[in-house]
Amino acid sequence: MKGIILAGGSGTRLSPSTDSINKHLLAVFDKPMIYYPLSVLMLGGIKEIMIISTPEDKSRFEALLGDGSDLGISISYREQSNPNGIPEALTLSEDFIDNEPVALMLGDNIFYGQGFTTLFREAIKNHKHATVFGYRVKDARRFGVVEFDHNQKVVSLEEKPEHPKSDFAVTGLYIYDHKAVSIAKKLKPSSRGELEITDLNKQYLKFGQLDVELLGRGFAWMDAGTHESLFEASEFVKITQQRQGFKLACLEEIAFYLGYISKDAIYEKGMSMAKNDYGQYLLEIAEREHNQQYWESIDRNPILGLVENE
Ligand code: TTP
Repeated sequence: MKGIILAGGSGTRLSPSTDSINKHLLAVFDKPMIYYPLSVLMLGGIKEIMIISTPEDKSRFEALLGDGSDLGISISYREQSNPNGIPEALTLSEDFIDNEPVALMLGDNIFYGQGFTTLFREAIKNHKHATVFGYRVKDARRFGVVEFDHNQKVVSLEEKPEHPKSDFAVTGLYIYDHKAVSIAKKLKPSSRGELEITDLNKQYLKFGQLDVELLGRGFAWMDAGTHESLFEASEFVKITQQRQGFKLACLEEIAFYLGYISKDAIYEKGMSMAKNDYGQYLLEIAEREHNQQYWESIDRNPILGLVENE
């Protein structure tokens, strides 16, 4: 499975903060926003990832994440010249997708919760055509809303409906089979001038090929696209990290526990930023790794959010 992160767009709701910098490079508490979706795809076991951003910002993402080899994965980059809509990501990366299934994730979405990794991995393993992830929200009228039957087959999809048919919003994570590119190519811009991801999903729905995975009440799903939600997301990350002593979306830690990078690599990265908390955290991981007994005494799965052995 390939992975795509959408980190373009115009970020107008975060202006002036985004007037000279891409939204996804802004910090959500102690790390850039892009770390969060990247961590999701990595936890899903996806190793080939493309980041789509604006022509002005592509080099900044490259400077931050390079070719991914420091994380034991492969990251490539592509420009989206105008924010023409989310499905354009699929046509822009047709050669990268190369007829394989793909997980598409919006760069300003954050998922967190015990068991998320397992749920996502299962969804990847079991997916047939298209899968969206539904999350119960208080005011569904602000979101794309998904209605479904007992078998979690989607019955209807509506964008910001006046009278929602369910309380479940469609989140910014989608899994598609190889047909998505050709469907995306045929889409027409909506009245707001953009290609709409809901229209793409509706095509799958038309053929009974759209499934939904529900994220239960133990999960947090946030997007960080407004000043308010960015601040709330930062607070959430800060509080969760402070209570547990684990960082959310620490890419090097994930890469290490997945066996992609060595203890020495973690140590070196930690040393390169030893003056800050992120660097200290990496050094702690490398340090603990010296203590064989410590590692023998714990199960690493909960650290990665895996509920069962995989
Ligand atoms: P939005 O939040 O819908 O749009 P935006 O990021 O441009 O922000 P604003 O509404 O404040 O102007 O986009 C959702 C995500 O998808 C976000 O992470 C940016 C990304 N995106 C693209 O990469 N390309 C696009 O063409 C669009 C529309 C969005």
